[in-house]
Amino acid sequence: MSSTIAAQDAPQLDVEKIRADFPILGREVNGHPLVYLDSANTSQKPQQVLEAMWQHYAVHNGNVSRSVHTVGTEATEAYEGARARLAAFIGAPSADEVVFTRNSTEAINLVAYAFLAANVTAEGDPRFRLGPGDEVVISEMEHHSNIVPWQLLCQRTGATLRWLGITDDGRLDETDLDEIITDRTRLVSFVHMSNILGTINDPRRIVARAGEVGAFVMMDSSQSVPHAPMDVSTLGADFIAFTGHKMCGPTGIGALWGRGDLLAAMPPFLGGGSMIESVRMERSTFAAPPTRFEAGTPPIAQAVGLGAAVDYLSELGMAAVRRHEQQITAYALDALATVPGLRIFGPPTPEGRGGIISFDLEGIHPHDVGQVLDARGVEVRVGHHCAQPTCRRFGVSSMTRASFYLHTTQAEVDSLVEGLEQVRKVFG
Ligand code: ALA
Repeated sequence: MSSTIAAQDAPQLDVEKIRADFPILGREVNGHPLVYLDSANTSQKPQQVLEAMWQHYAVHNGNVSRSVHTVGTEATEAYEGARARLAAFIGAPSADEVVFTRNSTEAINLVAYAFLAANVTAEGDPRFRLGPGDEVVISEMEHHSNIVPWQLLCQRTGATLRWLGITDDGRLDETDLDEIITDRTRLVSFVHMSNILGTINDPRRIVARAGEVGAFVMMDSSQSVPHAPMDVSTLGADFIAFTGHKMCGPTGIGALWGRGDLLAAMPPFLGGGSMIESVRMERSTFAAPPTRFEAGTPPIAQAVGLGAAVDYLSELGMAAVRRHEQQITAYALDALATVPGLRIFGPPTPEGRGGIISFDLEGIHPHDVGQVLDARGVEVRVGHHCAQPTCRRFGVSSMTRASFYLHTTQAEVDSLVEGLEQVRKVFG
C-alpha cells in the first residue's frame, strides 16, 4: 500500500451482502440502529470468523506443537495454516517471517527489545547495538505504541530519539528528511496510515534515505493492512507491525513481519516453553524464527479466527475494500464540510487518505459530541486517540474521530452528519 495505490479499477463491494455477515450490525443502541463508525479502534467480526473460532473450540481444541494426538495435530495445522495465509496476504516470501504477537504494540516492542538485548549480551548482533551517538527516527504522527518503546530504548542505551514533523495539512513533513535521517540513524519507524489523521504515508523517500545511511525501517501498519493491499516484498521496510482485531479478526493476536535474515539474527524476546531448541540447567539454545519469538501457549483460537478473517478479506479483494473506503471517505469529507464550525484534521482531500476522519466542532468538547451521537446510536471515538503529540501539533487535547470499513454506508455518514447537527442544537 502506498498513497498512490490504484484501486479505482477494483470491483465494487456488495455492501448490503457484507453487512449481513456482521451480526452486530443488526442490533440497536439506545433505540436506534447501530451506526458503527469506530473501526479504527477495533473492527467488528463477520459470522465466518466467529464460526471458525467456535468450531475450533468445539471440535479441534488441543495445544499446538507439543501433541502427537489427533486434536493437537489438527490445532497445530490450523495455527500454522493461519500463519501461512497471513504471510500470503501481506506478500511475505515465507511464513517463517510472520511472528504471532499479542498486538501491534507487542510487535514493535519485540523489535525494540532485540536492540536492547543486543546491547547487553556479548553475542548480540552488532547491527542491533545502540549507544550514545546513535539515533532512532520516528514521526510526530505516531500512535503511542510507536513512540514509547523507542523512548525507552533510547533512555536505556543512551541513543537519541529524533522525529519528522507534520505539515499543516496533516502529511509527514519530509522537508528536512536528509538532515533528520543521517549516518547516525540506526532505525526509522513510522506509521503507514495515521490512526488519527487518516494520512497514508508514502514510504518511498524515507525508505530510500534509510537505505543510503544503512538504517533499518519499521512501519506501523496497524491501520493499513486491514484496509488496502499490502505487499511487503515491494514495500521496502524491514519490519511491519499489525494487529488482528482491526482486520475483522479477534483481539489478542497481532503479527510482526520481519525480513528473514534479520529475524534469524535477533535474540529471543520472552523466554519459556516452545521457543527453545534445548534447555540445560546452565543455559539454553533457541529455536529458529518464528518459534523463537513465540514463548508459551500461543493464541491458538485467535490465530484460527485471524486466518478466517484473512480468508474473508481475500475473497472480497483488498483493492475493492480500499476502493469502497475511498468512496465513503470522499462522500464523508463533502458531507462534513456542510456542518458549520467543523474543522477537519488531516489531509483535506481523499487523496493519500484512508477511511479515518478526525474533527473538532467549534466550542464543543469531543466527549459531549460523542455522548450525543451515542444517544442516537452513532458510535465514534473521542479523546487523544493514543496520539497526544499529534493532538498537540494541532493545538487540541482531543478530537472526535469517525472511522469507516468495508460495511460503512453513505446512509451511516448521513446519520453522523444529522447527529452533529443535533449536537450543535444541544450545545451550540
Ligand atoms: N489504535 C487504536 C485507535 O486508534 C486503539 O483507536
